[in-house]
Amino acid sequence: MSDEKVLKTAVTEGGAGSEQMPASSASRFVRACLRQPVDRTPVWFLRQAGRYMAEYMAVRKHHSLLEICKRPELAAEVTITAAEKLDVDAAIIFADLLLPLECMGLGFEFQAGEGPVIHQPVRTAEDVVRLRTDRTDELIYVAQAIERVAAHFKDALAMIGFTGAPFTLASYMIEGGGSRNYIETKRMMYRQPEAWRLLLEKLATVLRDYARQQVEGGADVIQIFDSWVGALCVEDYREFVLPITTTLVREVQAMGVPVIYFGVDSASLLPAMKETGADVLGLDWRTPLDDAWRRLDYGCGVQGNLDPITLFAEPDLIRNRVRNILAKAGGRPGHIFNLGHGIVPGTPVENVQAVVKFVREYAQETQHG
Ligand code: CP3
Repeated sequence: MSDEKVLKTAVTEGGAGSEQMPASSASRFVRACLRQPVDRTPVWFLRQAGRYMAEYMAVRKHHSLLEICKRPELAAEVTITAAEKLDVDAAIIFADLLLPLECMGLGFEFQAGEGPVIHQPVRTAEDVVRLRTDRTDELIYVAQAIERVAAHFKDALAMIGFTGAPFTLASYMIEGGGSRNYIETKRMMYRQPEAWRLLLEKLATVLRDYARQQVEGGADVIQIFDSWVGALCVEDYREFVLPITTTLVREVQAMGVPVIYFGVDSASLLPAMKETGADVLGLDWRTPLDDAWRRLDYGCGVQGNLDPITLFAEPDLIRNRVRNILAKAGGRPGHIFNLGHGIVPGTPVENVQAVVKFVREYAQETQHG
């Protein structure tokens, strides 16, 4: 990673290995992504702004999810409020995985309690050919929201931009929403491999341009969500998904930012996912962090991996689980503390705040005693 931006954020503060270095959260976070030593493990949460938080619900009372995403001042406010309330090391821009579908020509809506519904799912080669890749500029509102958040935090916090991965977005486009068995997705993958390849290529083009807007807007890191990739066996992942995802990861890295690549139920895929060259792999909570990292030969960073439902337990148990994860990471450079998937509605905010406190406590104890 030779680009100025990463080097600037990562190297300006403190010498490598200095435990006393007065790292800003932005540099601490980017350094951890690059497996450079940091003064303490950075921490943030998947879905840290969302329905579990009263401040978000207050905004949601007056605006739909898509309205919040499309109005930079609202998206920035929601992003900033959550990051400040939790006192985390990184802010993830408030947006949604599915936004690029619209500029590709697929309308969708969020139906209460049902999740996303895509009006006309992609099923045929003609449907794929019709998808547009030349209107990504329409997504500029996300980059504009990032600009506002970055201006607010400056270097005090790392700014995470994100996109979906080609597979996970293709699955929404083809299934028309969430899915249990991904029958239509796999049917196209197996029976119409050329249409499948074109669909993923088109997605990768749009996602690359979208990521570039976000980096230009001030994102320090890009997370690529391949949330549903765990539906695939390794063979299929390698044949149908890995090559185009690798292209996307490398193109984003060439913009000068580290990439975090995340999937759920991904234990058996991790070594193949590492071949994308992503700087960090997000681990779900089912995989013991030490086993996973060892299987990756410590050749990339790891992010995770507390079970989000642990946040419904008593603080003592949460504290134990946080410490276990940190012990499994063993102080090795390249660990970012997070959950193994997103915070769910109903999660007590004070337990999320407690996790941040526990992560910091652990760092103090292991440094001074
Ligand atoms: O701070 C944050 O992380 C919030 C920003 C964010 C949202 N969506 C807002 C949102 C992020 C990072 C996402 C990513 C996203 N969106 C993913 C990948 C993350 C993951 O969980 O693996 C996926 C699969 C989506 C698609 C999506 N958006 C679904 C399936 C749903 C419905 C989920 C539900 O529980 O109803 C959404 C809606 C959505 N996106 C909400 C939020 C806060 C909740 C709905 C609302 O506020 O009305």
